[in-house]
Amino acid sequence: MTPADMAATHGAAFPGQRPWSEAEFAALLDVPLCFATGDRRCFALVRVVADEAELLTLATLPAYRRHGLARAVMHAWMARAASQGAARAFLEVAADNSAALPLYESCGFALCGVRRDYYRREGGAAADALLLACPLPGGRAAES
Ligand SMILES: CC(C)(COP(=O)(O)OP(=O)(O)OC[C@H]1O[C@@H](n2cnc3c(N)ncnc32)[C@H](O)[C@@H]1OP(=O)(O)O)[C@@H](O)C(=O)NCCC(=O)NCCS
Repeated sequence: MTPADMAATHGAAFPGQRPWSEAEFAALLDVPLCFATGDRRCFALVRVVADEAELLTLATLPAYRRHGLARAVMHAWMARAASQGAARAFLEVAADNSAALPLYESCGFALCGVRRDYYRREGGAAADALLLACPLPGGRAAES
């Protein structure tokens, strides 16, 4: 999966939002702390800093949705982050993202914070950003 693949998938998955460019994905992948899992149909981009992992983005091409790809990618990056020493994983999701929220909850994520009116929607409406966290089995927190 190349940065160009990631930019194409991201653009298709987030219509109406500014897509992340190929150059932005390339720059993030250049950071030793960042890694991607998945393929051009569905991928996650993750950053691990010390004992914390952060999901930077997750996207599945519309034609491949509801086939379990995102769930598999979630499990893959969480296992990899734990193997790199991460004890907890974090992510941010819009409160009105009715596809991602049940996915994250089923992967063990729970609410740990709210950023009120964080996202602007077309027409001026706002949506909260929810901060979710999940302990990583095998990570340092699970050992203490
Ligand atoms: C959210 C997203 C990544 C899910 O990808 P996916 O590959 O279709 O997800 P999966 O097939 O692995 O689904 C796993 C679970 O997520 C939930 N889910 C996925 N899509 C859903 C939908 N449209 N409505 C309700 N629940 C949904 C379900 O619980 C599903 O399990 P089930 O199919 O057994 O019911 C995809 O819809 C997407 O790319 N959306 C746009 C980008 C986005 O919102 N990314 C997350 C930003 S935080």
